[in-house]
Amino acid sequence: MNQQHLLIVLVTVPVIALALQCYTGTTYVRGQSVGTDKAACNGAGEYCYNMTGDLSDLTRLTHAGCSATRCFIAHNKCIEQNLFGKTVRFCCCNTGDLCNSRSTNASFIDRTKNRVKDFLSGFGK
Ligand SMILES: *[C@@H]1O[C@H](CO)[C@@H](O)[C@H](O)[C@H]1NC(C)=O
Ligand SMILES: *[C@@H]1O[C@H](CO)[C@@H](O)[C@H](O)[C@H]1NC(C)=O
Repeated sequence: MNQQHLLIVLVTVPVIALALQCYTGTTYVRGQSVGTDKAACNGAGEYCYNMTGDLSDLTRLTHAGCSATRCFIAHNKCIEQNLFGKTVRFCCCNTGDLCNSRSTNASFIDRTKNRVKDFLSGFGK
């Protein structure tokens, strides 16, 4: 392992350990879960959020991402607001990676993290 690789490992590990992963993106179709894009929230005190509103009987808009400020009023809960005559549901969570989706299955991420940790601890020996 050359020094450049070592530097990358040292820089990456704390980010993997600390950053909360959230789904991000916007979907329009009913019944679909929040976008498949994932992002690591970097800021302190950031939450994953999702925002869901029915535009019509058939179209549901869901928007998801990371935010500290948008979640100021809703820590780990959902609130419903009336916006232009439509009910918009707004949820925030920081309970785990990708918690802002209905079909949350963080175990894959956890397993990946553990694998990375095992991998790295191998270098320490
Ligand atoms: C939004 O996130 C909450 C958790 O905060 C979750 O229970 C809900 O199912 C999510 N909504 C969608 C549309 O994924
Ligand atoms: C979540 O993961 C477990 C095992 O990792 C799997 O058995 C289960 O089917 C998964 N659930 C979803 C909703 O993907």
